[in-house]
Amino acid sequence: MNSLENAKIVVIGGAGFVGSHIVDQLLLEPVSSVVVYDNFVRGARSNLKHIQDSRLEVVEGSICDRATLQETISGADYVFLLAALWLYECVHEPRSAVEVNVVGTFNVIEAAKEAGVKKVIYSSSASVYGDALFTPMTEDHPFNNRTFYGATKIAGEQFFRAFYEQHKLDYVGLRYMNVYGPRMDYRGTYVSVIMKVLDRIDKGLAPVIFGDGSQSYDFVHVSDVARANILALKSNATDVNLNVGSGTKTSIKELVSMLLDITGSSLQPEYKPEEQMFVTHRVGATENAAETIGFEASVALEMGLPTVVEWRERDQESVNAAREAAAAQ
Ligand SMILES: NC(=O)c1ccc[n+]([C@@H]2O[C@H](COP(=O)([O-])OP(=O)(O)OC[C@H]3O[C@@H](n4cnc5c(N)ncnc54)[C@H](O)[C@@H]3O)[C@@H](O)[C@H]2O)c1
Repeated sequence: MNSLENAKIVVIGGAGFVGSHIVDQLLLEPVSSVVVYDNFVRGARSNLKHIQDSRLEVVEGSICDRATLQETISGADYVFLLAALWLYECVHEPRSAVEVNVVGTFNVIEAAKEAGVKKVIYSSSASVYGDALFTPMTEDHPFNNRTFYGATKIAGEQFFRAFYEQHKLDYVGLRYMNVYGPRMDYRGTYVSVIMKVLDRIDKGLAPVIFGDGSQSYDFVHVSDVARANILALKSNATDVNLNVGSGTKTSIKELVSMLLDITGSSLQPEYKPEEQMFVTHRVGATENAAETIGFEASVALEMGLPTVVEWRERDQESVNAAREAAAAQ
């Protein structure tokens, strides 16, 4: 087992949704420092504003800036790599996707090796599998991916594997299913289906279901995903890519119905013709992560969704209060 006692840990992309929850959980450990390295293209300082801990340091920088990256990683024991452009950003900006998700990932691997980092935990994605050829998808499911985003994640996994082969840089890649929870983006250009449905309910509009709503996904709560990251770091596992999911399949129809219940809405979903979807069925096998790093998801969707609804309400209130205060000045 790797000890976190007095460890210096760098969380790259730590101001984002998943990264900020890893930071929260790391600060419960006897670490000496947690350095968030983020360029804030999507993450925000507000995701860390609740933390009053002198062990936390925030460095603004990009994984494309090798000098600042190397300087930040120098002396680190462990690194978490979360920084990446997301699915839809990769569709519209493929060159940026290569620069950040491919070259940037390589920059981190190289800097980690040069700094003598003991282990890197890489945020991969279930997108590497594409649409499921069989379910639950085990880690040996083929790379049936057809997206640019998935291509960049496959590249990242392969770089880690090749670097392990050549230089014995320990790593674990985690293939997250659909992560949800407090601090997930709801104001940006690219937001998840959960936030799109909540937006419609907020406006008193019927949530839209494309197709028959049978498309199904594996939703995993962000607190579980953060815990999986820390378990992967502490474990002796290396040179392995593991699913991080709940193992439970939920259809879009079921998801919308749960959100209507939680918000106490009497709206009925509106069905529209199916739009182009990247993936329509996905659920990950959980056995390998349980055996290899001792991870099993603990938050069921019925328990987890209310945490999103409550957080979103609170966040909207604080954003509105800040706007009113600014307008009053
Ligand atoms: N959220 C999901 O459902 C999900 C599913 C599968 C995989 N993942 C992967 O998990 C990781 C974290 O996802 P998330 O949902 O927290 O995303 P996020 O966008 O909230 O977090 C990514 C963070 O990286 C930062 N970043 C982006 N480009 C950067 C750069 N060039 N240099 C430094 N920082 C940069 C962003 O500002 C952001 O804070 C990503 O790699 C993502 O691909 C997420």
